[in-house]
Amino acid sequence: MEILNQLPKLKCYCHHHCPSQAHDGICEVDIGGRCFAAATETFNTETGLLEPEYSYGCFAPGDPTFLQCKGHLVDHNIPMGIVCCDNESFCNEHLKPVYKPTNVSDHYAPYNPPADTFLLQLLLAAVFSLLLLTFLIVLYIVCKYKSKEKSQKFLNESDSNKSFLLNSKDSAFLSLDSSGSGSGMPLLVQRTIGRQITLKHRIGKGRYGEVYLGEWKGTYVAVKSINSSEEQSWWREQQIYKLALMKHPNILESMGYDIRSKDNITQMIIVTDYHQRGSLYDYLQCYTLSEDQALRLVLSTISGLCHIHMEVEGKPYKPGIAHRDIKSKNILVKNNGEACIADFGLAVCSVSGERGVDIVPNVKQGTKRYMPPEVLDDTMKMDWFDAYKQADMYSFALILWEIGRRCVTNAGDEKPEFEDYDIPYKDQVPQDPSFEDMRKIVCEDGSRPEIPLRWNKSKLLLELSKIMKECWHRSPQVRLTSLRVKKTLTEFRDYETHLQIV
Ligand SMILES: Nc1ncnc2c1ncn2[C@@H]1O[C@H](COP(=O)(O)OP(=O)(O)OP(=O)(O)O)[C@@H](O)[C@H]1O
Ligand SMILES: [Mg+2]
Repeated sequence: MEILNQLPKLKCYCHHHCPSQAHDGICEVDIGGRCFAAATETFNTETGLLEPEYSYGCFAPGDPTFLQCKGHLVDHNIPMGIVCCDNESFCNEHLKPVYKPTNVSDHYAPYNPPADTFLLQLLLAAVFSLLLLTFLIVLYIVCKYKSKEKSQKFLNESDSNKSFLLNSKDSAFLSLDSSGSGSGMPLLVQRTIGRQITLKHRIGKGRYGEVYLGEWKGTYVAVKSINSSEEQSWWREQQIYKLALMKHPNILESMGYDIRSKDNITQMIIVTDYHQRGSLYDYLQCYTLSEDQALRLVLSTISGLCHIHMEVEGKPYKPGIAHRDIKSKNILVKNNGEACIADFGLAVCSVSGERGVDIVPNVKQGTKRYMPPEVLDDTMKMDWFDAYKQADMYSFALILWEIGRRCVTNAGDEKPEFEDYDIPYKDQVPQDPSFEDMRKIVCEDGSRPEIPLRWNKSKLLLELSKIMKECWHRSPQVRLTSLRVKKTLTEFRDYETHLQIV
């Protein structure tokens, strides 16, 4: 023990690790012990920096912390370094141990008080929520407005139909129309054609509306827009077109109907085939006709009229239809030289198994100039369907007369003969005659259009004049039926063709 006390000791510099709690000074260890210097990374609150904090002291040979001399070889949560020495006393005084400092950018964001970050995030969230809320409110208002507008439009459409249904005396006819839309198809489906058409320009104007050239699915169509005051005639026309067996080469073909709004005005439209030669009235103003051309026009017109007049029993059933507004403006000229009948807004139908009509219309509708005497003097049997067909035959006779005037005789001669176009009774009544004007000349005076003498030179014109006289007879029962006229003219054509071949 004595010997041990006499052995020299290793002196070390100490700081934070001095005996007797001394702050700085000297510590001593027996031979085999070591001096150490350690550095620990510490946050300096004054500078805001991470800095090494140094400590110095002694490790005695049996000291459990002695192993820490190898402490720099392992990772520490808080970076630190340690260096030991024993070569001489105070060997640790000038040692500066190093460690791997913390990467500030990994662990320490630039100093931002957490409260500020939180506030910023809160502010952003609030602004974003506000924007989202505003967007949802606007979206809701727009959707609500649009659906209101749509249902209003639908209601208006239903109202317009309803108003017609309520005002109409057309009860028998409407009873055929169980769906309320005519064909069993949904109402809105039938009424989409108007939106698919591009209108080009106006091609005609009548008393009740205008006719436009339109383009639909790559073809030209005629679009007739009817004033809303003429709702009944628009309704009636589409109902007639929806009847079975209405398709015929001498009946104007209809593609559909629609209601649309232009400049806040409701228009009802009917879309039909477009015939560039226009009406017979237009055509006869500009062109004279050969006998063949005249016969073609006459025969095709009576074929169309015969088809609508005819009642077809069985399935499908087609009622007899009387036109009630036959005139040269309501007959169109097709490119092949045939005619087709248009404008069914005033038509009436026969009732199956009865002799009556589906509606008893206002008999004085139609075009006064073409009205037969029994209509003008109110003697027509209005509840008898055949009376309407007989009335059509009177109007047809006037058309024969219009065509006959333009049919050329002496065609091969130097002086071909024909008359200028004239509307019937042109010199006898004013341009827009009243019922009284017409009644006076047609019923009282028994006047009829004059048949020119030159017509005697043509077999065709003679035949036509014979037919027209029978058809414009004062007594409706004496008039030829459309079927009779068609047969007569067909026989005439076949006979003449046969003669030409022989
Ligand atoms: N499908 C069609 N193709 C070519 N032109 C047509 C067609 N339909 C009508 N038109 C032209 O439009 C004009 C006007 O026709 P609309 O039926 O409106 O009146 P209108 O029959 O001439 O006279 P009103 O009003 O006295 O019956 C016709 O005269 C004709 O020139
Ligand atoms: Mg017309």
